[in-house]
Amino acid sequence: MLITHLQLRKLFSKFWEKKGHKLVPPIPLVPKEDPTTLFTGSGMQQLVPNLLGEPHPLGKRLYNIQPAVRAQDVDEVGDNRHTTIFEMMGNWSLGDYFKQEQLEWCWNFFTKDLEIQKNKIYISIFAGTKTVPRDSESATIWKKLGVAENHIFFYGPEKNWWSRAGIPENMPAGEPGGPNSEVFYEFSNMTHNPKFGSKCHPNCDCGRFMEFGNSVFMQYKKEKDGSLSELPKKNVDFGGGLERILAVLMSSPDMFKIDVLLPIIKFSEDLSHTKYKSDENTTRTMRILADHMRSAALIAADGVLPSNKDQGYFLRRLLRKMIRYGKNLGIENNISTSLLPSIVGIFKSVYPQIEKKQTAVQNIFKLEESKFRVTLENARLSVEKAIKKSSNNWAQTAFDLFQSTGYHPELFLEDLKEKNIEIDKRKFNQTYKLIFEKHQNISKKGVDKKFKGGLADTKGQTIKYHTATHLLHQSLFAVLGNDVRQEGSNITTERLRFDFSSSRKPEKKDLEKATKIINQKIKEKLPVEFKIIPKKEALKIGARSFFKEKYPDMVKVYFVGKYSKEFCGGPHVKNTKEIGKLEIFKFEKIGSNLYRIYAR
Ligand code: SER
Repeated sequence: MLITHLQLRKLFSKFWEKKGHKLVPPIPLVPKEDPTTLFTGSGMQQLVPNLLGEPHPLGKRLYNIQPAVRAQDVDEVGDNRHTTIFEMMGNWSLGDYFKQEQLEWCWNFFTKDLEIQKNKIYISIFAGTKTVPRDSESATIWKKLGVAENHIFFYGPEKNWWSRAGIPENMPAGEPGGPNSEVFYEFSNMTHNPKFGSKCHPNCDCGRFMEFGNSVFMQYKKEKDGSLSELPKKNVDFGGGLERILAVLMSSPDMFKIDVLLPIIKFSEDLSHTKYKSDENTTRTMRILADHMRSAALIAADGVLPSNKDQGYFLRRLLRKMIRYGKNLGIENNISTSLLPSIVGIFKSVYPQIEKKQTAVQNIFKLEESKFRVTLENARLSVEKAIKKSSNNWAQTAFDLFQSTGYHPELFLEDLKEKNIEIDKRKFNQTYKLIFEKHQNISKKGVDKKFKGGLADTKGQTIKYHTATHLLHQSLFAVLGNDVRQEGSNITTERLRFDFSSSRKPEKKDLEKATKIINQKIKEKLPVEFKIIPKKEALKIGARSFFKEKYPDMVKVYFVGKYSKEFCGGPHVKNTKEIGKLEIFKFEKIGSNLYRIYAR
């Protein structure tokens, strides 16, 4: 049966309403007052206390459709079924009906209301462990409903036990869980890939089978001593992925063909003038764009801002990966803002906040994208060089790149993958972590030492030198004329160093003049601000750029009062008065027409 996602939502609601279920509205993607998890990861999240025994204000029969984030799947996205957000269609019995009703209703909904062909359906059931018995009751029920014996498979807890933490051993004390029975669809026109095992079966990873419904019999709780105790009441917790069910209804192993994802793919086809499925890379790239864009938009509409922490960091990663992948399709600008309307179009009637917040989200994405494109462009040459040079310690290379250009190691890993450079990701992550921690310890020790010596935060000091460098740069133009060219700059907590070329050799009095100007500008308490503007405009207003760098179409320009304008990623002080006094303490010629200044 071919239906839209809106029709599926309606059919689902109607079915459970008729059976006396009440709708529990979905909770936001970032659960309130739950510091243990970054995102809402399943439909039952808001019902944990009720599954443990607390009565629910709406009664014992509940249902909902809950968007959920699986951040851990982000690297899998690109195949035909993984996504970082999905919508879980769920129904619950809080100590009311149990296996008989659940499996029968589930079967009826799928085979009658949705008209899924019975002979394409397979079932998995819990095989039992030493402490929890085999679920023969479910097997009997399924068979009575008409499922053929050879369509029923038993698996251990790795496959047929559900808790938020996975198998019983991984459950923390107090966590509810239980055996489950899953429903699979067979894409019978696909052939089994022996790479995944000699025989195909519902849980085979070759892609011939897709799980689309999961009835969990929540009847256990993990105890402190590691054992499982029976919950006061036996509950049912069913979850079926809306996307997967739509794919089943289309008989499409490719989930990206359904109407909550395809419109985004269509938009990216238009943007890139490339067709989905034209080759393997394009297919993967467009899936990543569609998934990441959808997740980014929904997460941002729930109030998350890009940042370097927690949910904000995940949002930032999604956007960055998308921007970077968009480049593979030749999309060099505004990818996040151009794709956003497709998401609004799909979801506005379901999640009205996405339309209400469209402008706000658009602005957030625009800023994030332009900032990131600056980083990306600045890092591009260094990244290419590093890859060409090769390395026996890619983690170190990635760290150095991040330190010098802000280019994120995850993106560097993507680059290596694209260049078919095989690396052991686990080892990479371990080494990277070690390098990072070592570095942090060193800087921390540095701070401690400085602190004892009576000096404030070292980071503050380098920021001051950074703004001072802009003043120095501009003052050299004032003193030496318009052919001054910055050749490099380096800042430590102790001093700044500035290399430049000039056709006229600076005299002592030139340096004195420059020093005087800089200190004058510091005294004038000039505000330091940045704007993100088109490169053309930045050049037109005479912003200083670093000629060795290539800049993207949108650039960040720092203004020190009206005195200096310069292409720069920052950070800077807010006001020149924070810099204190500056002196040039060393000057040298380092090449033909090349000079170096040290100041502190
Ligand atoms: N909690 C189960 C799941 O997420 C069923 O809803 O699969």
